[in-house]
Amino acid sequence: MSNTFTMVGGEGPNSYQQHSKYQGALLEAAKEKINEAISTKLDIDLTPSLVNIADFGCSTGPNTFAAVQTIVDAVENKYQKDIEFQVFFNDSSNNDFNTLFNTLPPSRRYFATGVPGSFFGRVLPKNSFHVGVSSYSLHFVSKIPKGIKDRNSPVWNKDIHCTGFSKKVANLYRDQYKIDVGSFLNARAQELVSGGLLLLLGSCLPNGVLMSETVNGMMIDFIGSSLDEMAKQGLIDQEKLDTFKLPIYLAHADELKGIIEENKCFTTELFESIRHAKGEYPLDPEYLMLTFKVTVGGTVASQFGQDVMEKTFELVKEKTQEMLPQIAKAKPGMQYLIVLRKN
Ligand SMILES: C[S@@+](CC[C@H](N)C(=O)[O-])C[C@H]1O[C@@H](n2cnc3c(N)ncnc32)[C@H](O)[C@@H]1O
Repeated sequence: MSNTFTMVGGEGPNSYQQHSKYQGALLEAAKEKINEAISTKLDIDLTPSLVNIADFGCSTGPNTFAAVQTIVDAVENKYQKDIEFQVFFNDSSNNDFNTLFNTLPPSRRYFATGVPGSFFGRVLPKNSFHVGVSSYSLHFVSKIPKGIKDRNSPVWNKDIHCTGFSKKVANLYRDQYKIDVGSFLNARAQELVSGGLLLLLGSCLPNGVLMSETVNGMMIDFIGSSLDEMAKQGLIDQEKLDTFKLPIYLAHADELKGIIEENKCFTTELFESIRHAKGEYPLDPEYLMLTFKVTVGGTVASQFGQDVMEKTFELVKEKTQEMLPQIAKAKPGMQYLIVLRKN
């Protein structure tokens, strides 16, 4: 499933490239902390004078370019010498790598390489990168847990994601997430040089908060209820919808912390909640709808077709408009920056 869950490609008005400012805001807000972490915690051998940077789950840009530039600047600032940089851009093989390469910043000071493949396994040679980053990519699971898609199963989930209301469903998603993040960390631990850093950024849930109590959860609930309406109108098959589940799991902060600690391959140098420059999402139905259309829309289109996807997101926008007062009262989610150092 993760192989089909890519962002909407291209540079058009409905592309991830045009509507990923929410994700980009976290990188901007975390810039100073990243600079500080590289300045004080990175401890690598610079002979030869080459630093390899890797971005896991890079999508098309521009956020990946911002992340890489922050790292390049911080490394140059720390070592104050001529360094050559090689950047490995990793994502699933069906990511729009053409757009990524066509829009590489012309003034970049690094060589660029595409690395297709799932980051839940090894995608680079052993000891091959010095600083890695993964931003808004670690809330995916590699597969939907067993039973969740099966109408006849006691753990069938009628919702399209893990809302948090069913403990049994949440536990199954959490178990899969634990396996996947463990695999991600084990793979990175082999690929990262000793003394190198892995920077993780993204969204999780504050402890005790349910997914559907946050704006992220509410927006996915609106996508689910819009798809329900499409099924009622006979535009999509109800049985197909019953098995349609998103491979997304936002962990609670303590769950994520626990998984990293249990893994033991890294020392946690920083685990911090970062506030976006603009706080939570702006209360703008068009902005909210588009932010989710460019992330989830591709998967909806691959299951139900482009027309259904377009109609679904028109409904999502209407629902978002109607529900603005509830969205305004949503519980805040949590954005994090985690800095891990290879032991
Ligand atoms: C929300 S985008 C984040 C893109 C970018 N890092 C940013 O901060 O804007 C998540 C990316 O993770 C990628 N992804 C999800 N699962 C993956 C996997 N198993 N292996 C590699 N990439 C994956 C998706 O294809 C997508 O491009």
